[in-house]
Amino acid sequence: MKILVINGPNINFVGIREKNIYGAESYADICERLQKKAAETGVETELFQSNHEGDIVDKIQAAYGNTDGIIINPAAYTHTSIAILDALKAVSIPAVEVHISDVSKREDFRQISYAGMACEKSFIGYGIRGYELAFDYLVNRLGK
Ligand code: DQA
Repeated sequence: MKILVINGPNINFVGIREKNIYGAESYADICERLQKKAAETGVETELFQSNHEGDIVDKIQAAYGNTDGIIINPAAYTHTSIAILDALKAVSIPAVEVHISDVSKREDFRQISYAGMACEKSFIGYGIRGYELAFDYLVNRLGK
């Protein structure tokens, strides 16, 4: 089983940016937690972060045929990117959406999630623990 974790723009600045919203833990902490989960479960896990929409689309397309599940936090592209939505639909890989903050309680422009329309489950507002919850959900869902 292989899980791909995709993080979008500025997630590499978590722990530095708006700590009151995203917390003090860093992107490295997110990776560490997921690597620990991967080691515990024996699930092959690839971690990817990009600030570029097209690179995220390329990564989703490259997962076709070799990846069983995707965890995605498209960050600001959540609310703008039909290209990421279309890529997720194109590959048809079970996908789970994560947002560190509770976007439902934030600005109006964060109230639409295009990527979420192609995801079977969302973990929103659980802080970086949301990634672990998404991982557990996918491993369970994919049957390992
Ligand atoms: C985010 C929420 C988005 O609205 C924002 O643009 C981000 C991070 C989150 O994880 O809470 O960059 O996806």
